[in-house]
Amino acid sequence: MSTSHRGQRFVISGGASGIGLAVARLALQRGARVGLLDRDADALAVAARSLGGGAVALNCDVTDADAVNRAIADAAERLGGIDAIVNSAGIDLLAPLEDMRDADWSRVLAVNLTGPMLLCRAALPHLRRAGGGTIVNVSSGAGLSPLPNRTAYCAAKAGVIMFGKALAIEAASDGIRVNAVCPGAIDTPLFRTSYENAPDPAAALEAIRQRYAMQRIAQPEEVAEAVLYLSSAASSYVTGTALAVDGGRTFH
Ligand SMILES: NC(=O)c1ccc[n+]([C@@H]2O[C@H](COP(=O)([O-])OP(=O)(O)OC[C@H]3O[C@@H](n4cnc5c(N)ncnc54)[C@H](O)[C@@H]3O)[C@@H](O)[C@H]2O)c1
Repeated sequence: MSTSHRGQRFVISGGASGIGLAVARLALQRGARVGLLDRDADALAVAARSLGGGAVALNCDVTDADAVNRAIADAAERLGGIDAIVNSAGIDLLAPLEDMRDADWSRVLAVNLTGPMLLCRAALPHLRRAGGGTIVNVSSGAGLSPLPNRTAYCAAKAGVIMFGKALAIEAASDGIRVNAVCPGAIDTPLFRTSYENAPDPAAALEAIRQRYAMQRIAQPEEVAEAVLYLSSAASSYVTGTALAVDGGRTFH
């Protein structure tokens, strides 16, 4: 079995921050070529510089189908093809249902569920042309086991798991594998927003920590290792799975 990524061409959405950026860094270290796709142009430029100029920057909002099609075509041209997609772009929303605005519900589903679909749809011809490939959707433990005040987020994250399973059937005959990772609490800007605005942030963070058997917050690199496993030949017989990387909360 090989975990080499030499020559593999990745497009990573949400690549300017957190888990997506950690995946990009590890993939580059292991010899891959990387397209970083993100809607935040400034963060994208900083991230690309932090990677030593080895990544291609693709400024794109994953909810805009035309922009996604253009970004994928651009990536294929600049990387010389595409072998691996990682859908890590995502947003959180903490709101009891009765306080949630229609626009917030729509945006969470658009970014966390429709976005991965748009990227997969645009990338499939390129993966096929490469003779096969991998797709990893970054879902969440919240897609396996619910969390309070997160109806939209949980629904979108459960949706992207089942979207991937259905696509895994469709794409298998083309040598394309589709899997999900379901992170727990990972120290990223998105995660920090879940407790920093609480009346007592330290207590809120402690309450989150207590949900996990391992009772700690993980680093983005710990999720990146799982994403790269599912993007490598080491997982050659794995498709349609949802791999919990959550220190023991969902026990999936
Ligand atoms: N951090 C956690 O604890 C945690 C836990 C479970 C799941 N996740 C999931 O992991 C993924 C990555 O999250 P993170 O923690 O690294 O967050 P992050 O905020 O650090 O990074 C997310 C990136 O996605 C980008 N993005 C957001 N909306 C976008 C859009 N419409 N188009 C393009 N780019 C967009 C942001 O600009 C940002 O760079 C998300 O899907 C998130 O739901 C995170």
